[in-house]
This record gives sequence, C-alpha cells and structure tokens, in this order.
Amino acid sequence: MPDIAFANGVFLPLAEATVSVEDRGYQFGDGVYELLRVYGGVPLRPLDHLARLERSARALGIALPFDTARWTSVITEAVDRSNYPEAKVYIQVTRGVAPRDHTYSATLVPAVVITVRAMTPPAESLYTDGTDIVTVPDLRWSRCDIKSLNLLANVLAKQQARNAGAFEAVFVRDGFVLEGATSNVMTVHRGSLVTPPEGPLLLSGVTRHLTLQLAREAGISVAERSLTEADLYTAAEVLLTGTTIEILPVGRINGRCIGEGFPGPITKELMARFRKLHA
Ligand code: PDD
Repeated sequence: MPDIAFANGVFLPLAEATVSVEDRGYQFGDGVYELLRVYGGVPLRPLDHLARLERSARALGIALPFDTARWTSVITEAVDRSNYPEAKVYIQVTRGVAPRDHTYSATLVPAVVITVRAMTPPAESLYTDGTDIVTVPDLRWSRCDIKSLNLLANVLAKQQARNAGAFEAVFVRDGFVLEGATSNVMTVHRGSLVTPPEGPLLLSGVTRHLTLQLAREAGISVAERSLTEADLYTAAEVLLTGTTIEILPVGRINGRCIGEGFPGPITKELMARFRKLHA
C-alpha cells in the first residue's frame, strides 16, 4: 500500500479513510497534531514529537488515547505499510465526535488519524540560493505553543507569501519577530545564533531545538532573545527551521537582500550537521 491512513483504529489506503462530519476537529478545529519526517524508513526524533503532542493535548484537556509505546508501534506499522523510505507522518487527535455544540462532555473519546505520505523535499536550489520570506502581522491567538488544528491565520499567511512569490511568511507581533507560518526563525548576529525565546507566542520546534543543540556542539554561541523586524535586515544570516525543510537559508526579506554572501558560513555548517543526523 502506498499512501496509508490509520483511522477509527484501522489501517487502510488513504483514499478510503473517512471521519465523521461531527468530528470536533472538523467543526471547531478542536484538536492537536504533529508532523514527523521519515528518513530511510525511520522517523526522526519521534519521542520529541510525541512529547509535544502530549503537551498540546494536555493544554486543551484532551487525554491522549495511546501511550508512547502504542504510538510508536502504530507509527512504525503505518510507515512499514506505506513502504516509503522518505515520508511524512501526520498525526491528528481531536476531542472526538459529538453533535455540534461549543461545550463538550468529558466522556468524549478522542479520535486519532494518522497518515503517511511520500515526502518530496524542497528544491535543492532553495538551499543554495536562499528563500524569500515576507513579514506579516500575527493574527493568531495567544497560545501558539500549542500545536492545535486552528491554522487559519497560518494558512492565510502562507498563501500571502506564496502569492508574493515567497516561500514563508514570518509573523511579527508588536514589532517582534516570532516564527514562520510553518517554521521557526533564527538569525546570526556577530557570530551568534539568535532565536526568539520559547513562550506562549511561538511553537517549540523540534528542529529549532535540534539546531540549537547542533550549534552548541559546533562551538557556535546561542542566544534565545527577542528579535525585532529591524534585526532581520541587519542580520548576517537568517534561517528557517522545520520538520519538512530542516534548516533553510533565507536570502531575501520583503524583497530586500540580507546577509553578506550566501548561504552564510554558520547556516552552511548547521545544514551539513543536520544532514548527518539522518545520513
Ligand atoms: N509545522 N512553527 C510553526 C507555526 C509550525 O507550524 C512549525 C512546523 C514549526 C516548526 O516545528 P518543527 O521543527 O517541530 O517542525 C514552527 C509543521 C511542519 C506543519 O504544520 O506542517
């Protein structure tokens, strides 16, 4: 089987999988999700993703129906059934199925959907020539640390980027840069890797964490501090991190070229180290 879904407790071809129209994920975006990258048939950092899934679900009062061992076995079986060496695994847990009502009963049974699809990495030219990003006002709520299904502001921002010929939209709130619509943002200032600190206004990215760890291992100093939009323009390097993009250099912000030469040495070093993680 190629594209696989696990839904209502069974595996089946993705095209045959269905969910109830009264699933609260469908009607309210009432749920959480994760996206894992599979390299050579092996998911990268599954336990980090599962820990974040647990944190997101707990924050919404959703009790995950599986423990780590069960998640691991279902994910492994889904990946094995798909037989894709390079894949992305999407995990979604909603509060459950019930007649539409904003309030909910504590007895709802959370609904799990997992899909496995082949992964086509971004074009190599994005890594050599750098991506374009645009800055957008952050219209999201104030719990962006929860990986919830409510992605409307992200969807609109990402589409705005695409319409402008850019790869990513970066959210700016009160003058501070927070993260991309689907990625975290870092800069290099005076040889240090800088990224906004974790908190309720951005997602604690698995790739963000790995990148900071790789930087420390490489002897690069790391600072988790607020960045203004102006800091993006004066940075020697700007990079995005995320499960589907790994570490992606930014070449232009709102059409303005940034940095001194491209891709910068620190981004290059981190990209190479990241690739070794799954080589
Ligand atoms: N998004 N910030 C946001 C808002 C994101 O949606 C993502 C990832 C990240 C990066 O997190 P990580 O390194 O754990 O992938 C940061 C996934 C890929 C998505 O929504 O498809």
